[in-house]
Amino acid sequence: MPSDIDDLRRELDIVDVISEYINLQRVGSNYRANCPFHPDRTPSFYVSPSRQIFKCFGCGVGGDAIKFVSLYENLSYIEAAKHLARRYGISLRIKGEKEGPKEVYDALEAVSQFYHKKLKESREPLEYLKSRGIDNSSVRRFNLGYSPSSQELVEFLKRLGLLKDYEKTGNLVRFSDGAYRDLFRNRLIIPIRDARGRVVGFGGRILQGEGPKYVNSPDSDIFKKRELLFGLYEGLAYLKDLKTAIVVEGYFDVIALHQEGFRNAVATLGTSFGRDHALQLSKFVEKVFLVFDGDSAGRKALRLAVPHLLKAGLEVYPLYLPEGTDPHDFIFSRGKEAFRRLLDNSRSLFEQLLYRIREGVNPEEAIRDFTYFVSFLKDEVEAYSLLAQLSKLTKIPVDVLASKMYRREEPSVEEEDPRVSFTEKLFLKGLFELRPEINIEELNLSSKAYELAKSILAEEYYHIPEEILNLKVDDLETAFWSSVDKLRIDIPEEELKAQTASVREFVREAMRNHRGGIKPASARRWRGKLES
Ligand code: UTP
Ligand code: MN
Repeated sequence: MPSDIDDLRRELDIVDVISEYINLQRVGSNYRANCPFHPDRTPSFYVSPSRQIFKCFGCGVGGDAIKFVSLYENLSYIEAAKHLARRYGISLRIKGEKEGPKEVYDALEAVSQFYHKKLKESREPLEYLKSRGIDNSSVRRFNLGYSPSSQELVEFLKRLGLLKDYEKTGNLVRFSDGAYRDLFRNRLIIPIRDARGRVVGFGGRILQGEGPKYVNSPDSDIFKKRELLFGLYEGLAYLKDLKTAIVVEGYFDVIALHQEGFRNAVATLGTSFGRDHALQLSKFVEKVFLVFDGDSAGRKALRLAVPHLLKAGLEVYPLYLPEGTDPHDFIFSRGKEAFRRLLDNSRSLFEQLLYRIREGVNPEEAIRDFTYFVSFLKDEVEAYSLLAQLSKLTKIPVDVLASKMYRREEPSVEEEDPRVSFTEKLFLKGLFELRPEINIEELNLSSKAYELAKSILAEEYYHIPEEILNLKVDDLETAFWSSVDKLRIDIPEEELKAQTASVREFVREAMRNHRGGIKPASARRWRGKLES
């Protein structure tokens, strides 16, 4: 039974909610802090857990937990409620908002059929597919399509009375003059289905001209990139039967592999492989081949994806293709038997690392990887037995190896981390992607951002919020260095002055009621120091 806003308010604890944004200090049965909504030198912002409200006696703002978030995040009250419901995993129904999205699913299915029909009538995209080795069986299996024009699509939807419903997907942009534009116009369409087979969104590949290679549907309640896997539904019977999945990077990799008989191939929708993807796979399979193209990006992807897979109880088999070759290239240039051999001859992640140590191929790194990955295993007996093997091989005592394991609490799954500013997010994204020479100690980072920066440098990617991993930045290099400039700037003069002023106030206070604590004389000495 979904909650309404009143239920939500009852379920939230205002102290929990506000503590995620600012530090609260307990005073008797209430809490207080410097007010985040006006310049506040003395804490005049109070939170009452018994009444579940906050109130600032300086600037006068006040209200419930939702109101706080709406002020802090600059959201409408309803948006703030939705944000909190998501944050705390409460399903929220807003009165007056349309019941269930059945019409939206219907519209998506209809649009998918429309695109498919258009593809069959369009020469250019068909020739493109042919040139890439994609045949008719794949066009049918994935119901591939083409979007020739926004206008035709809009008229089609109007005829079905589904235009308004379809607009909710964000796939159709409406301009102020009333005109519509299909996000996917002139693109090859790849419909994306959820595990139940419903079309929930699209990927669109450019055929020619300017623009990003792929456009994907924007995230919404029914289209969540962090959970969806392309190919999952189309390959579900095979995944269940083989108890194995092949995780690749791109849409075309999945299509090509399915076509050549590897129908348990899946890919994320251009985002990093995360916890929800792993949990999704673990419902159907026990073992996952992770396919990389053998470069340093592959190492990064490995250290990102593997913790989630191991935590979900899955066996991991990393598989490296020749540098710069993706599975789509590989299967058409080398053939499916070659790909089959790769799968059959592959070793598990831990076997590969032990092998590297035994053969002396970058053994320090392999040991480090081993202890990092072992710490994510669900089965403690297995973890111990693996550490014992590593110990036997390296002669390092098991307890020393165990002390190197990565032990941290669960990363939070919230979408936005208010403790990390946007500048810091850009910085972290750049640090992760570009690995520049930089000393993080010289920067003014919040403690959360500092902790994340350290994890990135240690290649412990498990804790980096997906929001940062999947941040879209046009020119990351420039954005990164300008974030560094901003973070180098020292504390502003005003802030320093304000801090000095509050020390001064403290001293005056101490002089006024000098029972215990600071004696007037020493206070006077202090003041002398401050004023010099
Ligand atoms: P690739 O560039 O490897 O694409 O990106 P691909 O699927 O192999 O496509 P081809 O072979 O070049 O045609 C891997 C995945 O990253 C996402 C898509 O999901 C793509 O399949 N991606 C890539 C985007 O979302 N947007 C982009 O602009 C590029
Ligand atoms: Mn490709």
